[in-house]
Amino acid sequence: MRFYTVLPLLALTRAAVIPLRARQDASQTKFVVAHHIVGNTFPYTLQDWTDDITLASANGIDGFALNVGPDDFQVTQTANAFQAAQNFGSSFKMFFSLDMSVLPCATPDDGASLRQRVLNFTSHPNQLQFNGKAFVSTFAGESCTFGQSSVAEGWATQFATNPDLAGKIHFVPSFFIDPATFNQFAGTIDGAFGFNSGWPIQVTTGFAGNITSNLTSTGEAGTNALNQFIGATDTDTQQIQSLATFGTNLTYMAAVAPHFFTHFSPQSFNKNFVFLADQHLYARRWQNVIGLRDQIDLVEIVTWNDYGESHYVGPIKGALPTGSEVWTDGFPHQALLGLTNYFATQFKTGQAPALTEDQIYMWARPHPALATATNDPVGPPTTFNILQDEAWAVVLATSNGTATISTDATNTATFDVSPGVNLLAVPIVPGGTLNAQLTRGGSTVVNLAVPGSNFTFNGAPETFNYNILVATASSSSS
Ligand SMILES: *[C@@H]1O[C@H](CO)[C@@H](O)[C@H](O)[C@H]1NC(C)=O
Ligand SMILES: *[C@@H]1O[C@H](CO)[C@@H](O)[C@H](O)[C@H]1NC(C)=O
Ligand SMILES: *[C@@H]1O[C@H](CO)[C@@H](O)[C@H](O)[C@H]1NC(C)=O
Ligand SMILES: *[C@@H]1O[C@H](CO)[C@@H](O)[C@H](O)[C@H]1NC(C)=O
Ligand SMILES: *[C@@H]1O[C@H](CO)[C@@H](O)[C@H](O)[C@H]1NC(C)=O
Ligand SMILES: *[C@@H]1O[C@H](CO)[C@@H](O)[C@H](O)[C@H]1NC(C)=O
Repeated sequence: MRFYTVLPLLALTRAAVIPLRARQDASQTKFVVAHHIVGNTFPYTLQDWTDDITLASANGIDGFALNVGPDDFQVTQTANAFQAAQNFGSSFKMFFSLDMSVLPCATPDDGASLRQRVLNFTSHPNQLQFNGKAFVSTFAGESCTFGQSSVAEGWATQFATNPDLAGKIHFVPSFFIDPATFNQFAGTIDGAFGFNSGWPIQVTTGFAGNITSNLTSTGEAGTNALNQFIGATDTDTQQIQSLATFGTNLTYMAAVAPHFFTHFSPQSFNKNFVFLADQHLYARRWQNVIGLRDQIDLVEIVTWNDYGESHYVGPIKGALPTGSEVWTDGFPHQALLGLTNYFATQFKTGQAPALTEDQIYMWARPHPALATATNDPVGPPTTFNILQDEAWAVVLATSNGTATISTDATNTATFDVSPGVNLLAVPIVPGGTLNAQLTRGGSTVVNLAVPGSNFTFNGAPETFNYNILVATASSSSS
């Protein structure tokens, strides 16, 4: 099972103003993939993989980054994933995201087994190829030496430029290091993946307190002060600029994530924190990444199925990490796939797709940020107190209309919406549920109503849950 700690904020230095290159012309193929935690697939059948691939492919996702750890079952499930992709057709790709927070990497033998794992699929028809080489990524790996004198030496001699793999892979790891030091891997890496770029991870309670003296869970002043960090691309730009100092045409893969909440006790994975995901993070991150699309080769959605950290966009299935059922069950995110399809298409083509139906997406956390849980020995997650008690809505409108979003009779707001993406919000208080309508010319064209039995904002939760429930409705479903 995978776990990791929050990394310290990398200073956003902008001293060296290197002009950003346009690395690709508009016709260059871009990819959108999703991070798939193979460690959560223990009970998967081939059909489960086929179902995931079919669902992902129907929603603008071109492949899965297979996050693999050391368990034997993950070798079997990796083979199943590639096989299901092959059965599905040539359009869906797979590649390894080697999870170096759990895979051993201290000795040359560890390097040999990693190479073997990758080599087994480099020429598989569904392996994602980049410039004629098998695309390979990682989660972490910035401490791996494989028994060599340095991390850089380890990754070079025992992996990327080892005769077994040299010339066969396009290596785009996610090393959690200061991008200014990427050049130690010149000749070894073919690009970088900014795993943490999906969230404004630097916005901790202390950080927020430094930039606003009026931060309450519903305070607009505090919200506005934090707003600029939501979905920002500073860390992407920093990595892209660093890559340009030692290579030409190196690949940058950006992350887009819907949420983050993890709540494991010291006796299990010992991690208990949230990242700020208010203010329509998922939509705004996509919009900003699309704005920088000339510089970004791939987007990796983080994730398809990481229930332990609440950033899944796929269905809730497989084997959930023990303990995560408490905050995952009853909190589907799959509705986000429709929104994913819209933005992924725009990222890949440069054009927002024509909307053939009106769509509403709406989500919220299940209890006030400052609630006291009645029976939760783990305590509130770090950063809980900068979150806002709002329900967030995205309306994809085919043309002008009027949207009303509501969490109760008092907290109801009406907005004029225009064609395309509309980001709306309304406060939510205990007893609140999720409702939204889009009307046009006096008739209701979309009606979203989440039953209170599915979701009711709870003033006195038993355990802390900062996950979200996501609902959707469209003009064809209403
Ligand atoms: C190599 O791939 C085959 C199927 O293609 C699979 O059965 C086998 O377990 C894989 N071995 C490793 C080490 O990945
Ligand atoms: C808040 O500001 C103080 C004083 O400038 C600084 O020492 C501290 O590192 C800041 N904290 C965060 C989390 O940014
Ligand atoms: C803090 O913000 C809230 C909401 O905007 C406002 O009502 C309140 O007066 C502010 N308090 C201070 C001390 O500025
Ligand atoms: C740059 O990389 C792209 C793939 O990202 C490839 O299609 C193109 O041929 C490369 N250009 C050069 C000059 O290597
Ligand atoms: C849509 O609304 C905008 C803003 O009110 C208005 O300028 C525009 O003319 C409207 N478009 C149509 C087709 O009614
Ligand atoms: C309410 O929950 C049920 C059972 O999980 C589900 O089938 C249904 O789609 C949910 N309704 C809404 C509007 O989300």
